[in-house]
Amino acid sequence: MNKQLRKAVIAGNWKMNKTPTETAGLIGQLKSAVQNPGCEVVICTPFTSLPCAVDATKGSCLHVGAENVHFEASGAFTGEISAPMLTDLGVEYVIVGHSERRQYFAETDQTVNKRTLAALAAGLKVIVCVGESLGQREEGVTEELVRLQVKIALQGVTAEALKNVIIAYEPVWAIGTGRTATADQAQEVCAAIRRVVGELYGQPAADGLTVQYGGSMNAGNAAELLSKPDVDGGLIGGASLKADAFAAIVEAAGR
Ligand code: PGA
Repeated sequence: MNKQLRKAVIAGNWKMNKTPTETAGLIGQLKSAVQNPGCEVVICTPFTSLPCAVDATKGSCLHVGAENVHFEASGAFTGEISAPMLTDLGVEYVIVGHSERRQYFAETDQTVNKRTLAALAAGLKVIVCVGESLGQREEGVTEELVRLQVKIALQGVTAEALKNVIIAYEPVWAIGTGRTATADQAQEVCAAIRRVVGELYGQPAADGLTVQYGGSMNAGNAAELLSKPDVDGGLIGGASLKADAFAAIVEAAGR
């Protein structure tokens, strides 16, 4: 399938950066830097910045996402945020299963699945992150591991709900390290992700799935990564905090 028919999505993952006050400033810069993009543009901010981000992006081309979500709708889960709380604010997207959550906050494939189901049920669009560590790549198990992560994350997700799922391939060794996967490595795993989704949901669903690459994507390497047939967008950490760099990546995706 012609990749132009798929939705290209560039999402910024701000991680634990920017106060609400600083958020307003950066969104102001982004609104002037990113105009008439040729792709969907999302900024995922800390929970505390979401009200400000939703407000500041109104009427612009920027969509707002959260960086995590709990799988229960409400209850005794001190410190957690539920999917209905996010949609009530006007948040449209959420990142689930980022490797930093898996590494530092004991996120498992099973909780990624529960969060994905809860977020979809509330009407959010979900960016599910998968990817291997350096050790796993060296052991030659990247494809098996990523297939497993995708299969478990999508358990119970209907074909209809899959339309609201994006899968982000983020090799852990490339995140925040300045070490990017080569465009061929990114292509290889993004294609494997599309294959497993095809096995689960059929070829048309796989053809329509947006698959992102993430891991030290920047203004210099975005065009090459995004030129690959199965790389439909990017999940951008560090470079999403600089309006010019982020705008350059958005431009590369819109070409
Ligand atoms: P990075 O982060 O672009 O800073 O490597 C990507 C991510 O963690 O989503």
